[in-house]
Amino acid sequence: MPRLEVLITEQEIQNRVSELAGQVSADYGDRKILLVGVLKGSYPFLADFSRHLGENIEVDFVQTSSYGNGNTSSGIVRIKKDLDVNIEGRDVLIVEDILDTGLTLSHLRELLGTRRPRSLKVVTLLCKPAALRHPAQAEYVGFEIPDKFVVGYGLDHAERYRNLPYIAVLHEE
Ligand code: IMP
Repeated sequence: MPRLEVLITEQEIQNRVSELAGQVSADYGDRKILLVGVLKGSYPFLADFSRHLGENIEVDFVQTSSYGNGNTSSGIVRIKKDLDVNIEGRDVLIVEDILDTGLTLSHLRELLGTRRPRSLKVVTLLCKPAALRHPAQAEYVGFEIPDKFVVGYGLDHAERYRNLPYIAVLHEE
Protein backbone atom coordinates (compact mmCIF):
# COMPACT_ATOMS: atom_id res chain seq x y z
CA MET A 1 0.00 0.00 0.00
CA PRO A 2 1.29 3.51 -0.75
CA ARG A 3 2.07 5.59 2.33
CA LEU A 4 1.40 9.33 2.62
CA GLU A 5 3.78 11.59 4.55
CA VAL A 6 2.38 15.06 5.17
CA LEU A 7 4.70 17.72 3.77
CA ILE A 8 2.53 20.86 4.02
CA THR A 9 -0.46 20.95 6.36
CA GLU A 10 -3.88 22.32 5.52
CA GLN A 11 -3.30 25.29 7.83
CA GLU A 12 0.08 26.09 6.26
CA ILE A 13 -1.47 25.98 2.80
CA GLN A 14 -4.37 28.23 3.80
CA ASN A 15 -2.05 30.79 5.42
CA ARG A 16 0.22 30.93 2.41
CA VAL A 17 -2.65 31.12 -0.09
CA SER A 18 -4.02 34.08 1.79
CA GLU A 19 -0.57 35.75 1.79
CA LEU A 20 -0.16 35.20 -1.96
CA ALA A 21 -3.58 36.71 -2.61
CA GLY A 22 -2.59 39.70 -0.48
CA GLN A 23 0.54 40.22 -2.60
CA VAL A 24 -1.43 39.90 -5.83
CA SER A 25 -4.11 42.32 -4.65
CA ALA A 26 -1.46 44.86 -3.72
CA ASP A 27 0.31 44.49 -7.08
CA TYR A 28 -2.78 44.73 -9.30
CA GLY A 29 -4.62 47.41 -7.32
CA ASP A 30 -8.02 47.97 -8.88
CA ARG A 31 -7.17 46.32 -12.22
CA LYS A 32 -9.46 43.46 -13.10
CA ILE A 33 -7.63 40.11 -13.12
CA LEU A 34 -8.46 37.16 -15.35
CA LEU A 35 -7.43 34.05 -13.42
CA VAL A 36 -6.60 31.17 -15.76
CA GLY A 37 -6.64 27.85 -13.93
CA VAL A 38 -4.67 25.00 -15.46
CA LEU A 39 -6.81 21.88 -15.19
CA LYS A 40 -7.07 19.67 -13.42
CA GLY A 41 -4.59 20.17 -10.61
CA SER A 42 -5.17 23.84 -9.90
CA TYR A 43 -8.83 23.60 -8.88
CA PRO A 44 -8.54 23.68 -5.04
CA PHE A 45 -5.83 26.36 -5.15
CA LEU A 46 -7.81 28.49 -7.59
CA ALA A 47 -10.95 28.18 -5.48
CA ASP A 48 -9.24 29.18 -2.22
CA PHE A 49 -7.03 31.83 -3.80
CA SER A 50 -9.87 33.50 -5.69
CA ARG A 51 -11.99 33.79 -2.54
CA HIS A 52 -9.40 36.22 -1.14
CA LEU A 53 -9.44 38.49 -4.20
CA GLY A 54 -12.71 40.32 -3.93
CA GLU A 55 -15.13 41.02 -6.76
CA ASN A 56 -12.82 42.33 -9.47
CA ILE A 57 -11.81 39.00 -11.02
CA GLU A 58 -12.93 36.58 -13.70
CA VAL A 59 -12.07 32.89 -13.93
CA ASP A 60 -11.37 30.74 -16.96
CA PHE A 61 -9.61 27.42 -17.52
CA VAL A 62 -7.21 25.71 -19.89
CA GLN A 63 -6.21 22.09 -19.98
CA THR A 64 -2.94 20.91 -21.46
CA SER A 65 -1.53 17.52 -22.15
CA SER A 66 1.95 16.59 -23.23
CA TYR A 67 2.52 14.00 -25.86
CA GLY A 68 4.73 11.12 -24.86
CA ASN A 69 4.48 7.90 -23.01
CA GLY A 70 4.10 7.30 -19.31
CA ASN A 71 6.01 9.58 -17.00
CA THR A 72 8.49 10.96 -19.50
CA SER A 73 7.29 14.11 -21.14
CA SER A 74 8.17 14.64 -24.79
CA GLY A 75 8.26 18.35 -24.20
CA ILE A 76 5.44 19.00 -26.66
CA VAL A 77 2.43 20.54 -25.02
CA ARG A 78 -1.00 20.32 -26.59
CA ILE A 79 -4.05 22.35 -25.58
CA LYS A 80 -6.86 19.96 -24.73
CA LYS A 81 -9.24 22.68 -23.59
CA ASP A 82 -8.70 26.27 -24.65
CA LEU A 83 -9.86 29.46 -22.96
CA ASP A 84 -13.44 30.59 -23.53
CA VAL A 85 -12.60 34.29 -23.55
CA ASN A 86 -10.47 36.61 -25.64
CA ILE A 87 -7.51 37.80 -23.54
CA GLU A 88 -6.33 40.69 -25.72
CA GLY A 89 -5.68 43.70 -23.49
CA ARG A 90 -6.48 41.74 -20.32
CA ASP A 91 -4.42 41.26 -17.15
CA VAL A 92 -3.98 37.50 -17.14
CA LEU A 93 -2.74 35.51 -14.16
CA ILE A 94 -2.10 31.82 -14.81
CA VAL A 95 -2.82 29.69 -11.74
CA GLU A 96 -0.75 26.49 -11.54
CA ASP A 97 -0.51 23.70 -9.00
CA ILE A 98 3.15 22.78 -9.39
CA LEU A 99 6.20 23.61 -11.49
CA ASP A 100 8.57 20.74 -12.09
CA THR A 101 10.62 21.24 -15.26
CA GLY A 102 8.47 24.21 -16.16
CA LEU A 103 7.94 22.91 -19.70
CA THR A 104 4.17 22.94 -19.51
CA LEU A 105 4.13 26.47 -18.28
CA SER A 106 6.67 27.88 -20.71
CA HIS A 107 4.60 26.57 -23.64
CA LEU A 108 1.43 27.94 -22.16
CA ARG A 109 3.01 31.32 -21.57
CA GLU A 110 4.26 31.41 -25.14
CA LEU A 111 0.86 30.52 -26.53
CA LEU A 112 -1.13 32.97 -24.42
CA GLY A 113 1.52 35.64 -25.02
CA THR A 114 0.73 35.59 -28.76
CA ARG A 115 -2.82 36.68 -27.96
CA ARG A 116 -1.58 40.07 -26.77
CA PRO A 117 -2.74 40.26 -23.15
CA ARG A 118 -1.93 43.51 -21.36
CA SER A 119 0.04 41.48 -18.81
CA LEU A 120 0.74 37.79 -18.30
CA LYS A 121 1.96 36.47 -14.96
CA VAL A 122 2.02 33.16 -13.14
CA VAL A 123 1.20 32.07 -9.62
CA THR A 124 2.15 28.52 -8.66
CA LEU A 125 1.46 26.93 -5.31
CA LEU A 126 4.48 24.60 -5.46
CA CYS A 127 7.85 24.72 -7.12
CA LYS A 128 10.38 21.87 -7.42
CA PRO A 129 14.16 22.42 -7.61
CA ALA A 130 14.36 21.88 -11.38
CA ALA A 131 12.10 24.88 -11.93
CA LEU A 132 14.15 27.06 -9.60
CA ARG A 133 16.96 26.94 -12.15
CA HIS A 134 14.77 29.17 -14.30
CA PRO A 135 13.58 31.74 -11.78
CA ALA A 136 11.69 33.82 -14.31
CA GLN A 137 9.00 31.19 -14.66
CA ALA A 138 6.61 32.25 -11.93
CA GLU A 139 6.14 35.70 -10.41
CA TYR A 140 4.43 34.26 -7.32
CA VAL A 141 5.48 30.99 -5.64
CA GLY A 142 3.75 29.46 -2.62
CA PHE A 143 6.26 26.85 -1.48
CA GLU A 144 9.57 25.51 -2.71
CA ILE A 145 9.53 21.76 -2.17
CA PRO A 146 12.08 18.92 -2.51
CA ASP A 147 12.27 16.86 -5.68
CA LYS A 148 9.77 14.24 -4.52
CA PHE A 149 6.46 13.09 -5.93
CA VAL A 150 3.68 14.81 -4.01
CA VAL A 151 -0.11 14.44 -4.00
CA GLY A 152 -3.06 16.26 -2.51
CA TYR A 153 -4.66 19.70 -2.83
CA GLY A 154 -5.28 19.10 -6.53
CA LEU A 155 -2.28 16.91 -7.28
CA ASP A 156 -2.94 13.32 -8.19
CA HIS A 157 -1.38 9.95 -8.67
CA ALA A 158 -3.43 8.14 -11.33
CA GLU A 159 -6.30 10.56 -10.57
CA ARG A 160 -6.30 9.74 -6.84
CA TYR A 161 -5.69 12.03 -3.85
CA ARG A 162 -6.68 15.34 -5.50
CA ASN A 163 -9.24 15.98 -2.75
CA LEU A 164 -6.81 15.83 0.20
CA PRO A 165 -6.70 19.21 1.99
CA TYR A 166 -2.92 18.90 2.55
CA ILE A 167 0.17 18.09 0.44
CA ALA A 168 1.85 14.76 1.07
CA VAL A 169 4.84 12.84 -0.29
CA LEU A 170 3.69 9.57 -1.81
CA HIS A 171 5.88 6.60 -0.81
CA GLU A 172 5.23 3.51 -2.92
CA GLU A 173 5.78 0.52 -0.62
P1 IMP B 1 6.44 20.40 -15.76
O1 IMP B 1 5.97 20.65 -17.15
O2 IMP B 1 7.62 19.46 -15.72
O3 IMP B 1 6.69 21.66 -14.96
O4 IMP B 1 5.30 19.54 -15.04
C1 IMP B 1 4.17 20.13 -14.54
C2 IMP B 1 3.05 19.12 -14.39
O5 IMP B 1 3.53 17.83 -14.01
C3 IMP B 1 2.15 19.57 -13.26
O6 IMP B 1 1.14 20.45 -13.72
C4 IMP B 1 1.62 18.26 -12.73
O7 IMP B 1 0.48 17.88 -13.46
C5 IMP B 1 2.73 17.26 -13.00
N1 IMP B 1 3.56 17.03 -11.79
C6 IMP B 1 4.85 17.40 -11.62
N2 IMP B 1 5.30 17.02 -10.39
C7 IMP B 1 4.26 16.39 -9.79
C8 IMP B 1 4.10 15.78 -8.48
O8 IMP B 1 5.01 15.73 -7.63
N3 IMP B 1 2.88 15.25 -8.21
C9 IMP B 1 1.84 15.27 -9.10
N4 IMP B 1 1.95 15.85 -10.32
C10 IMP B 1 3.16 16.40 -10.67
